[in-house]
Amino acid sequence: MSSHKHPAHRGSIFVEDATIISHQRFDADQYILRLSSARCAKRAEPGSFSHLQCSKDLPMRRPLSIMRVDKQAGWVEYLYRDVGLGTHALAQRQIGEVISVMGPIGKPFATTANKSRPLLIGGGVGIPPMIFLAERLKQEGIAPLVLMGSEVPYPFQTQSSSLAVPGLDSDDTNYGITLLEDMGVASRLASLQNYEGCFQGYVTDLGRAYLQALSTEELAEVEIFSCGPHPMLEACAKLAQEFSLDCQISLEEYMACAVGGCAGCVVEIQTDSGPAMQRVCVDGPIFDAKQVYPAIYA
Ligand SMILES: Cc1cc2nc3c(=O)[nH]c(=O)nc-3n(C[C@H](O)[C@H](O)[C@H](O)COP(=O)(O)OP(=O)(O)OC[C@H]3O[C@@H](n4cnc5c(N)ncnc54)[C@H](O)[C@@H]3O)c2cc1C
Ligand code: FES
Repeated sequence: MSSHKHPAHRGSIFVEDATIISHQRFDADQYILRLSSARCAKRAEPGSFSHLQCSKDLPMRRPLSIMRVDKQAGWVEYLYRDVGLGTHALAQRQIGEVISVMGPIGKPFATTANKSRPLLIGGGVGIPPMIFLAERLKQEGIAPLVLMGSEVPYPFQTQSSSLAVPGLDSDDTNYGITLLEDMGVASRLASLQNYEGCFQGYVTDLGRAYLQALSTEELAEVEIFSCGPHPMLEACAKLAQEFSLDCQISLEEYMACAVGGCAGCVVEIQTDSGPAMQRVCVDGPIFDAKQVYPAIYA
């Protein structure tokens, strides 16, 4: 995963009829959906997403990030929140039903070889790609730290973490995500909701506490990867700038076609030759924070 192995062009995006293998509901209308989707599973990389037909009555698909895949078994897993028409229709779908899936879409995260301390920051429904990236990094022998911010209960059982993290081992910052712990990946949680074991504040403040506990040599090994709401991404870019770190962010814009044809998802990106409009679906969704928030780095 050290470079963009799969250029995100239309020839690598498949349309598949995917059968629902499992569909679990969690607190706050959050769902984990597992689909039998072998072609998508085979090509998916951390940061890729799918465009799902939530219901036959809804012509517009909805984009969801890929959270986990099993290439051998041929399944793809998503975590989503029921927030409106499309996701509500999706939430009604039952095990055994078939959903049309278009994917995997988008340029994935690109890790840097000498950055051995990746810091993954996810917020709200931006958490799923962080789980995929953490799992992949761990498989590649790199130990990331995952920090998550959420204002609704986390959909995985939290527990007192057995994995130490510099600066984040007090009683009120020692809960992690079971799914990540089981992979041997350290994680910590932040929320403004007074949840037990969670840092009370923004996830980027939790990130700052960790970064402040590192030596100059250790800081040189850190790179930030982030997905979540825009204010959180901007705060991540500021955090990266504060500690002189590289930072990649995943943008989640409204999407119509998701294959680069409608320009409905364009954002202004700073390029070497000046500002340019780029499509989040196929030119992204991963961008360098410097390109999205040039004013922070000015
Ligand atoms: C690349 C990408 C990856 C995504 N990954 C996930 C994911 O893993 N899990 C997940 O739960 N959601 C994810 N989303 C967001 C998800 O696509 C939207 O929540 C969904 O399309 C909403 O559709 P709806 O018809 O249910 O709601 P709508 O009725 O369209 O909207 C409901 C509410 O959500 C807001 N909203 C809708 N779409 C977006 C958006 N793209 N960005 C910000 N606000 C939006 C609306 O303003 C409104 O308040 C992703 C979006 C993108 C572009
Ligand atoms: S959604 Fe159509 S170009 Fe991106």
